[in-house]
Amino acid sequence: MCGIISYLGNRKNAGKLIVDGLKKLEYRGYDSFGFVEAVPSTSSGQRNGKFKLTKKVGKISEFPSSTFHFPLSNLALGHTRWATHGKVNRANAHPHLSADRKVAVIHNGIVENHAALRKELQKKGVQFASDTDTEVIPNLIAEFLKRGNLREAVRKTAKKLKGRFAFVAMVEGEKKLIAARNGSPLIVGIEKFFPKSDDRLISKIDGSAFFIASDVPAFLNFTRDVVYLDDGEMVEIEPSPKKDHFHAHFFEIENGDEIKKRVISIDWKAEKAEKGDFAHFMLKEIFEQKETIERALNQDERQIEKVAGLIRKSFGTFFIGCGTAGKVCATAEYLFAKIARRHVNVIFGSEFDTQEPFLTERTLLIAVSQSGETADVLEAYKIAKKRGVQTVGVVNTEGSSVARHSDVVLPVNAGMEKAVASTKATTAQLAILTLLAYAVAGKLDEGRQMLAEAASQINDLLNPRYSEHLEKIARKIKNVESLYIIGKAADYPMALEAAIKLQEVSYIHAEGFAAGELKHGPLALISRGTPLIAFVPTGEYRADVLSNVAEVQARGGRIIGVSAENDDLFDEWIRVPNVGNAQPIVNIIPIQLLAYHLAVLRKNNPDLPRNLAKSVTVK
Ligand code: AGP
Ligand code: GLU
Repeated sequence: MCGIISYLGNRKNAGKLIVDGLKKLEYRGYDSFGFVEAVPSTSSGQRNGKFKLTKKVGKISEFPSSTFHFPLSNLALGHTRWATHGKVNRANAHPHLSADRKVAVIHNGIVENHAALRKELQKKGVQFASDTDTEVIPNLIAEFLKRGNLREAVRKTAKKLKGRFAFVAMVEGEKKLIAARNGSPLIVGIEKFFPKSDDRLISKIDGSAFFIASDVPAFLNFTRDVVYLDDGEMVEIEPSPKKDHFHAHFFEIENGDEIKKRVISIDWKAEKAEKGDFAHFMLKEIFEQKETIERALNQDERQIEKVAGLIRKSFGTFFIGCGTAGKVCATAEYLFAKIARRHVNVIFGSEFDTQEPFLTERTLLIAVSQSGETADVLEAYKIAKKRGVQTVGVVNTEGSSVARHSDVVLPVNAGMEKAVASTKATTAQLAILTLLAYAVAGKLDEGRQMLAEAASQINDLLNPRYSEHLEKIARKIKNVESLYIIGKAADYPMALEAAIKLQEVSYIHAEGFAAGELKHGPLALISRGTPLIAFVPTGEYRADVLSNVAEVQARGGRIIGVSAENDDLFDEWIRVPNVGNAQPIVNIIPIQLLAYHLAVLRKNNPDLPRNLAKSVTVK
């Protein structure tokens, strides 16, 4: 949530860099945006003078760069907001300034003790201009600055904050950026840096320009050399004695001690973050599933076997994830039972703390996350680490917090996913969990072959005609109030996932159920014309699920069957290939397309659904 980007370097168009970067980070939050540029007070640009503040409500992508007038500046910071505290309006948009307007701050996260801090500051005469939790940060910095330097002021401020946060600050008249992290991601991007020591572990890094951002795509056009800040760390960037250079220093928040950090070169490709000929990222990412399943299977065999060994050895394996990733985890319960005859536990990240009494050094935690930054998952990691639990991350985002803090990482390899609604990462995660179940059964090769066959069937399935068929169905149901989805076994979590997909982008009320559960209550919701999407298997359970479908049809429901075989009960048939244990993977793909078309037909932006953000870095 919230995209953060800041820049200090040699270029004189910092404002433009920030706006371009924010456009790349929009998926992190899009309620409002804003930026501050430090405008030089002399024509040579040697001294940074006044702040120029711009704030707007709405999506930054809807504002062409020509909307803004960018003064010459080499220092700026900006933010795209996903509101947690305070309504979506201009006053609450970031950056927030201190009451004396000397300190500007952008913030991602929640200051849990903001009410108490606000009262303390108000007693000192500070007047607040917004309803956000964030505004206490620049004001605390301004208070501490009265008695010390910027680094100490920021450090003391960070120590006072409770909750998860990442923030970047600058002070009028000082050519500096300073940032602190505790729970939310912060990444430093460095252009033309040195020293280039072999292990790249350095405490003071010199470079021609620095970015501090919440996510790599913000600066990917400029550099691939990054330093990931960890929790409890700060970075300060200021001019270096070498002309036209700047340097970054890293410190601990706790005691101000200098720390060494490693520079990592990431191999993401900038162009992968663009949508090419597709109307939306969501559609592009759905179609990328032609290759991404195959790529997910491209795992280091030793790592897969290692994780399989950990599962076999463990006394209690927990799969955790949130939202869609949580539904992917839920398939593991069925897949492991069926393929590996093994029981595993599945729980949402936000519920994992309830299991603390059962955690021991023999427990294994397997986290599934696209972003690798989901706060609920990271909180679970904290508990796991405390209890000596081993961790495995099934993660799409290289260098993310989950990736860096897992004992073993299985990369999802889906490439950058930008649409808020997860599609290609979901099916790639499903493929990895299926592969893992085969590995635990000692049948890795069989699993890989089965999944590779499914991947090639998906390649055939995903074509424009298939998408048109789904669009036709979408036209027929686009005005319904509610729709329901059912499935049995591993298709049950897929029914839940289908519901999330439809809710997120179409805003139609959608709910998923275990097929056999309808008659125990939800059947009362069915009336003439209510659409029911049913995942109908071909083999085992077909008769059971068809009976449940018949019960809905008898009450006037309109049946949309997702199946390899048609049936007289279906009003609409969505054909999917028959792929055995990979069935959940192929079943969810047409629903992704259906959700996409419903969104477009209902004039919603499928890439940026209302009220949501891509990575949920608050609890
Ligand atoms: C997916 O469509 C959702 N936007 C959401 O449920 C998401 O899956 C969830 O927030 C978890 O994110 P993660 O995979 O990045 O951890
Ligand atoms: N709490 C801040 C706000 O509401 C930041 C929100 C976030 O990180 O998502 O503005």
